[in-house]
This record gives sequence, structure tokens and C-alpha cells, in this order.
Amino acid sequence: MPALVLLGAQWGDEGKGKATDLLGGSVDYVVRYQGGNNAGHTVVVGDQKYALHLLPSGILSPGCTPVIGNGVVVDPSVLFSELSGLNERGVDTSKLLISGNAHIITPYNVTVDKVTERFLGKRKIGTTGRGIGPTYADKINRVGIRVQDLYDESILTQKVEAALDAKNQMLTKLYNRRAIAVEQVVEELLGYAEKLRPYVADTVLLLNQALDDDKVVLFEGGQGTLLDIDHGTYPFVTSSNPTAGGACTGAGVGPTKISRVIGILKAYTTRVGAGPFPTELFDEDGEALRRIGGERGVTTGRDRRCGWFDAVIARYATRVNGLTDFFLTKLDVLTGWEEIPVCVAYEIDGKRVEELPYSQSDFHHATPVYETLPGWSEDITKAKSFSDLPKNARNYVKALEEMSGAPISAIGVGPGRDETIEINSFL
Ligand code: GDP
Ligand code: IMO
Ligand code: MG
Repeated sequence: MPALVLLGAQWGDEGKGKATDLLGGSVDYVVRYQGGNNAGHTVVVGDQKYALHLLPSGILSPGCTPVIGNGVVVDPSVLFSELSGLNERGVDTSKLLISGNAHIITPYNVTVDKVTERFLGKRKIGTTGRGIGPTYADKINRVGIRVQDLYDESILTQKVEAALDAKNQMLTKLYNRRAIAVEQVVEELLGYAEKLRPYVADTVLLLNQALDDDKVVLFEGGQGTLLDIDHGTYPFVTSSNPTAGGACTGAGVGPTKISRVIGILKAYTTRVGAGPFPTELFDEDGEALRRIGGERGVTTGRDRRCGWFDAVIARYATRVNGLTDFFLTKLDVLTGWEEIPVCVAYEIDGKRVEELPYSQSDFHHATPVYETLPGWSEDITKAKSFSDLPKNARNYVKALEEMSGAPISAIGVGPGRDETIEINSFL
């Protein structure tokens, strides 16, 4: 019953889409377990480039069943536009399964996301504006709308009424916005019901049966460890659990079933939106990482903040996720630097600190302690095995592995499926 979790070890955009797609050919199911269309996963297959937001990256592998688990929040309009975009490009999406317990991102959740961000002003989180936080808030407040609610008009109407009651007060009295009509929302949601029906399934039962039948299931995280609502840089986080435990709650699979947890780790660091980022660069090195790495958001088109590799964060990701492996991505982007600084610890109030501080104030004050490793200038994009890499690139990988606490089992040397060095097999 091999069940693998593949998740972001930093602040998202580590290359999860590419890694999932790479394994997609050898697995039976790829399951998204949290988040929604705040994600932007890029997959490059030959000369074709796909940007996936809500759909699991396994959708591009013909033998694989893509699953949207109960922990995901689903915007039906985004779902159908993503599906038809893929269909137009000849991708068969008919195998997709969606949990009846997944929550729906309603139009008012998107509105609330935007107005609350505006209201926060300078203190804003820099969300993707896709309604993610307010939808999870409704779920926790027990006024959320689930996929299954679309099949009972009376229940749906009562639930939308309950959700809008307080929100309309807030929208009109606090934010000076127009109230949202219950009937309009119900009508829009009912309009998706029949189109959605063929995909809706008891995904918990199905996935557990698949594991009992020795099928291979891959759980694909959105976002990353440091964006986790519990373990990330709160409040500058997303509203779900991308960390490994999220795969269990977000798909209904027990922890005893998980056999491997793979952390996707960029060879440097990026972050989108607000919040602390100790190794962030504001100089030409940061600009060069952004340019060479193509570091621009897939979802919002925002420039990503860039900085050197941070081993403190990698060690933290190993711990909170119980990582068994790392997949190191974008090593090729570092080609050409004479020397590459790597953050090995922080200095906080004059003291050297080896582990991520639990205190938000301390993390805001953390300055990186760097060790400098020699760089390489040879093109590495054609490397097929570890020994094909120049000595300094191999030493960089080995140093990162030693500092980060789990073996590096694959290395990305380009965006394409085949631009990968596999060191240890994942299956
Ligand atoms: P995700 O959200 O974790 O799936 O990552 P994104 O797709 O948002 O961002 C990763 C970007 O890096 C995408 O443009 C990928 O095509 C690209 N990418 C992934 N792996 C590699 C790699 O090893 N080298 C290079 N040069 N690009 C990569
Ligand atoms: P993938 O899956 C990078 C960030 C947003 C913001 C914070 C909260 O492509 O790695 P939200 O809309 O989720 O409430 O925004 O989280 N964020 C991401 N950053 N990659 C992502 O997804 C992200 N999804 C959300 O920029 O700072
Ligand atoms: Mg992304």
C-alpha cells in the first residue's frame, strides 16, 4: 500500500507540480488534500506548458486517477474553466473525482477575501484573493457549503442564508458594500450541480480501498510548510495544513498508511505575499535569481521575493513533516555564481540559533548566518546522473543534504519532465 505525500518544504512554488507530474506515470491516484486555486503548479511536458491551480497535477498522466479530497476548497467556476482549458488541449479529464465533503468557495467568500485584505491596509497578508481564507473560516465556523449540499435545494438555501446573515451585516455596515442576495448565490451554485455530479464520489472509501488493493497513491500538497496555518509563519500563512498531517485529514487516510513523505526543496528560497523571510535579497543577486529562475507567480503574476537557501527552514520542514526524502529543484538556476551563500543558522539578539524560533517576534529579528560554498559555471541541464554534475554542484547538494536532515533523492536541473536526476527511487 505505498502512499506517498509530496509537499512544499519552504514557502510554496518549490516545483511540486513538476515533481508530481514526474511520478504521475507510475502512480494510480494523485490526490490534492488541502488548499484550492490559490495554488499555481507548472508542469512542462515536451513543448507544452500547463498551469494547474485546483486540479491535481496527476491529471496530465493518462493512467492516473486525479482526486480532489475533502480538505480542498473548490471554486466551481475555476474548476470548469480549468477542465475545459485542458479538454481543448486534448487532455482527458473524465477520471477526475471530487469529494462530496469538499467545501465550496462561494462568490461571497471571494468578496470577503478582497475586502478584508483592503481593510487590513499595511497589515495585509497579501493573499491570492481567491476566497481561500474565508471559505476555511466558514468551514470552521460550521456555516460552510459542501459539494454535497448542491443536491438538496432546501438545505442549500438554509445554509447560504446562515452564511450570509452575518456577512451581509459586515459587508454593508463595516465595509460599506452592497449586501449579497441569497437567491442569487443559490441559483449560481445550483447551476453547477448537474455538471459536477459525474465527478462527485466517496473519495475516502475509494482511496482506502485502493490502498488495501496495493494501488499507489500520491498526495500532492499545495503551498508549503512555512505557509501552514499551524506550523508556518502565522499570520502570514494560508488557511490550511499543507504539512504531512494535512494529507491524512484532507483525504481521510490514517497516518499508518503513509509510507513516504517527500519534501520539495528549491535550491534557493522564494516567497510571495507578506511576512518574514530572513534570507531575502534586495540586491542584484536577488534580481538575478528572479530573472534566471523565472520567479513570477503562476496564480497572481506577482514577482516572487528571492533569497539564498535557508537550511534552518529545511531542517524545520524535515521535523514537522517527518520527511523521508527531499526532491531538490532548480539547481540549474544557481549555475554561474562564483560563490553561493547558504544560511546555516540565525543570529537573534546577538545569539546564534540553530533551529527555527517558535516566537514570531524572534523570527522577525532573525538575521542569517551564512556559509559560502564554491559555485560552478558548467551547464548542468543535460545531467542525467549525480556523477554528471560538476564537483562543486555535487558538493553543494551534499552540503544541503547534510544540513537539512533527509536524503536528497532527486534533483531538478530544468523545468521539463526529463530534466531530473533520480538518485533513489521513490517507488
Ligand atoms: P509549485 O507551485 O510548487 O508547483 O511550483 P511553481 O510551478 O509555482 O513554480 C516552479 C517553477 O519552476 C515552474 O515554472 C516550473 O516549471 C519550474 N521548475 C520546476 N523544477 C525546475 C527545475 O529543476 N529547474 C528549473 N529551471 N525550473 C524548474
Ligand atoms: P503553490 O501551491 C506561494 C500565499 C499568498 C499569501 C498567503 C495567503 O503554487 O505553491 P491565500 O490566498 O492562500 O489565503 O494567501 O499564502 N500563497 C502562496 N504562495 N505558492 C502558493 O501555492 C501559494 N498559495 C498561497 O501569496 O502570502
Ligand atoms: Mg506555485
